[in-house]
Amino acid sequence: RRCNSPSVPSIARLLDEGPPNPDHVVVNGYVRSIRELKRVCFANIGDGSSRESMQAVLTHEQAKGLSYGSAVKMTGAWKPCRPNAKQSHELEVSGVDIYGPMDASTYPIQKASMTPEFLRTMPHLRTRTPFNSLLLRLRSTCIAEITKFLNEEGFTQTHTPIITSSDCEGAGEVFNVNSSRKDAGLDGGEAYFFKDAKYLTVSSQLHLEALAQSVGNVWTLSPTFRAEKSDTSRHLSEFYMLELEMSFVDDMKVVMDMVEKMIQQTTRGLLRSRLAKELTVRSQGGTEILPERWKILAQGSWPRITYTKAIGLLRSSGEPFDHLPAWGEGLGIEHEKYLAELHKSPVFVTHYPRSIKPFYMLASSTSTDQEETVDCFDLLLPNAGELVGGSMREHRLDPLIISMQAKGLVAPGLPASITDEQMGALKWYIDLRRWGSIPHGGFGLGFDRLLGYLADVPNIREINTFPRWVGRCEC
Ligand code: 4AD
Ligand code: MG
Repeated sequence: RRCNSPSVPSIARLLDEGPPNPDHVVVNGYVRSIRELKRVCFANIGDGSSRESMQAVLTHEQAKGLSYGSAVKMTGAWKPCRPNAKQSHELEVSGVDIYGPMDASTYPIQKASMTPEFLRTMPHLRTRTPFNSLLLRLRSTCIAEITKFLNEEGFTQTHTPIITSSDCEGAGEVFNVNSSRKDAGLDGGEAYFFKDAKYLTVSSQLHLEALAQSVGNVWTLSPTFRAEKSDTSRHLSEFYMLELEMSFVDDMKVVMDMVEKMIQQTTRGLLRSRLAKELTVRSQGGTEILPERWKILAQGSWPRITYTKAIGLLRSSGEPFDHLPAWGEGLGIEHEKYLAELHKSPVFVTHYPRSIKPFYMLASSTSTDQEETVDCFDLLLPNAGELVGGSMREHRLDPLIISMQAKGLVAPGLPASITDEQMGALKWYIDLRRWGSIPHGGFGLGFDRLLGYLADVPNIREINTFPRWVGRCEC
């Protein structure tokens, strides 16, 4: 609960704690509603620090020129309201200053409820609404809780690059940033800015792996970019991923335990915050889905099933899926949701087939020729599907080169005779296995998806403040 200046408390603070001096209160905020009665006017003032607003009582003279959205400074006395009123106190106004001019007739944001789709057309204004500003505060508090948790666990926060020379996931969904610039060539002629292909990162993982061999357990919360043409409520072209890499770990269970503990502790921290109360208000009158969701994320020992078991469950379910996957195929959103709802809990699905996973994953020790799997997992949420993807990493030099060759990332040939040049853009990553390589593993969590789940918002385009998705990047 911020103070917008030491002498001007935020409205959240005013409502929770009352003013230091009830006879002289100053409030900065925006008019959220105004009601004119015969003798007085009532205005509700909000400032984004709380979903609730503060009630102000004004004379008709003082209310002149005020409209929905006006930015105001109000001075007055903090007085108890009548019994049974919604709030315990209200501001009896003695002075009003209007900050900036405001033409209410052209203001696109209106008090009447606006659909998320409509608000999405103006991301630069929608965060002024009480619910969208609440989402900004949820993001901020969630980052603070995660940072606190990872600090306590001894992780080092790091920053990894946005411009990279590789496609970590190998899905070909990279944005190319190597535009030509007339002034970039050394000879003054037209040339590429960098000498070869460069991309916006799809994941910080590979760079985190390098750092995990330098300072131990590391993490980052970084923008990531995917040029995938998935026009869904779960996919953005630019999103935040929380990635974590653990060194000297040779058991994937340790990594999954960390996912579980991090999400549970973070959710418990949120439950203790003011936000829990504000978000619960939202579901009043309807089903109380939100507290249920927070409870699910805050506790329990989440089931862990293998991909092979998951395929078996899907095939014997009798559910009318659009597609029933055979062993070796990826799981779709309908399958992910079904598996989590079946367990009524977040569920880890482990050991997917090697053929559908990226080059860096460690082969499972239990793999057979027919069923070659990797030590990896996805965490699936009820009603939402995949939230986290993680794995153990191939840390041995020759198996890594062979795996990269199989994906066409390194030239064919015996690993021992591959030249640096034949190793391609990821030579630096192969280098990590040359000098003191260690067993390690980690994961990436879709941060916008986590917030969407916590806030019970069906589309992450509401969660990401300035969302970009296929075909859309307006502001
Ligand atoms: O499963 P993904 O692709 O895993 C990785 O990128 C690994 N390199 C992470 C790691 O091990 N360090 O992505 C991780 C998570 C997904 O589970 C999903 O929640 C989210 O990132 N994600 C997206 N979120 C929003 N929009 C998209 N287009 C997303 N693609 C993935
Ligand atoms: Mg994934």
